[in-house]
Amino acid sequence: TGMVTLDPGFVNTAACSSDITYIDGEAGILRYRGYPIEQLAGKSDFIEVSYLLIYGELPTQQQYDQFSQRIQRHTLLHEDLRKFFDGFPRDAHPMPVLSSAVSALSTFYQDSLNPFDDNQVELSTHRLLAKLPTIAAYAYKKSVGQPFLYPDNSLGLVQNFLRMTFGFPAEPYEVDPALARALDMLFILHADHEQNCSTSTVRMVGSSEANLFASTSAGINALFGPLHGGANSAVLEMLEGIRAEGGDVDSFVERVKNKEPGVKLMGFGHRVYKNYDPRAKIIKQTADEVLDKLGGDDPLLEIALKLEDRALSDDYFIERKLYPNVDFYTGLIYKAMGFPTKFFTVLFALGRLPGWIAHWREMLVDPERRISRPRQVYTGPTERSYVPIDQR
Ligand code: CMC
Repeated sequence: TGMVTLDPGFVNTAACSSDITYIDGEAGILRYRGYPIEQLAGKSDFIEVSYLLIYGELPTQQQYDQFSQRIQRHTLLHEDLRKFFDGFPRDAHPMPVLSSAVSALSTFYQDSLNPFDDNQVELSTHRLLAKLPTIAAYAYKKSVGQPFLYPDNSLGLVQNFLRMTFGFPAEPYEVDPALARALDMLFILHADHEQNCSTSTVRMVGSSEANLFASTSAGINALFGPLHGGANSAVLEMLEGIRAEGGDVDSFVERVKNKEPGVKLMGFGHRVYKNYDPRAKIIKQTADEVLDKLGGDDPLLEIALKLEDRALSDDYFIERKLYPNVDFYTGLIYKAMGFPTKFFTVLFALGRLPGWIAHWREMLVDPERRISRPRQVYTGPTERSYVPIDQR
């Protein structure tokens, strides 16, 4: 209330206080609950980071074991939910498949509807963390016309996801530990990023006291867009486009600078980072290593490296402080891992899930919480009189 200020895109407006993630965009610093992202990426694992984001502290061994066992127990999808996948077209984009299935969880778990029932919130947290990888794997299996695999709960979350995605019912599937470790690390790097578009969406929907599944489903839809999570697929499409036209990085950059409609340097720029995105720094360091290990000698990497060099030494990008963001190199790694381009944003969603959950939970117990209801500046017509249709 009071004076309304216009701030499209909330560039200068904080909508909440939060204890979860700290970003210093000028210095390129990112910390979850105070822990630098570099340490977490190097030393922790995705389950532990999920616990840290949601509960605020690193778990003891006992807390860790209990948390991961609870998640492992809920990986199975209801048989009726499995059937949902039959209804989607074979070439459906996996992101709306993911958001639809998550939305449908509210119908299977009607005990989840009260967001103030602490036990149910815990249960929804475990269910969602457990089931999203299964849903994601089924979205993949559907797209390639292969049979679905039931989860194997003797495996960890990432291993189980890889097996359900790339395995076959009749064959044993050996999870490559290097692959699992690399994907686990990428999930850690995506796990939270404070008030980004999808997280703000989760909070906004949740502010009406909608349950965790409904709020998360909305967040997945927000992530779908190419300016947000969809950028990782868009980067690969951009690199492939440049290669198809002969690999001329300079002329592509000129098109970007001339602001040709629809031509942006995807994977560059960020609302908050005006410096190298610390996640991109880690990913770039590991990209080479991971590509080597996975046997990928991808000519697209060379184009990406050239493109980065070219942009970082160009006044257009320097003046606007545009640096590679988290999405610039991830696509190349996902491709080497065997994921199709359309699926990259699903991997972002799997990584971002604990952040969404942590924010939804924090929002609900925030004493300052009010329903999200931005104001506007009205610019339409002043009062006028209705004219009957036959007189228009
Ligand atoms: N290529 C070319 N020009 C750009 C780019 C880019 N990628 N990003 C920003 N600019 C220009 C923009 O045209 C504007 O120029 P001018 O002042 O002449 O009008 C200036 O830089 C400021 O950009 P903005 O669009 O006002 O910045 P924003 O904070 O509103 O948008 C962004 C941030 C991430 C949406 C934008 O940088 C972008 O579209 N990047 C490409 C998509 C992308 O990589 N998104 C992933 C973001 S990171 C993780 C995630 O959220 O998924």
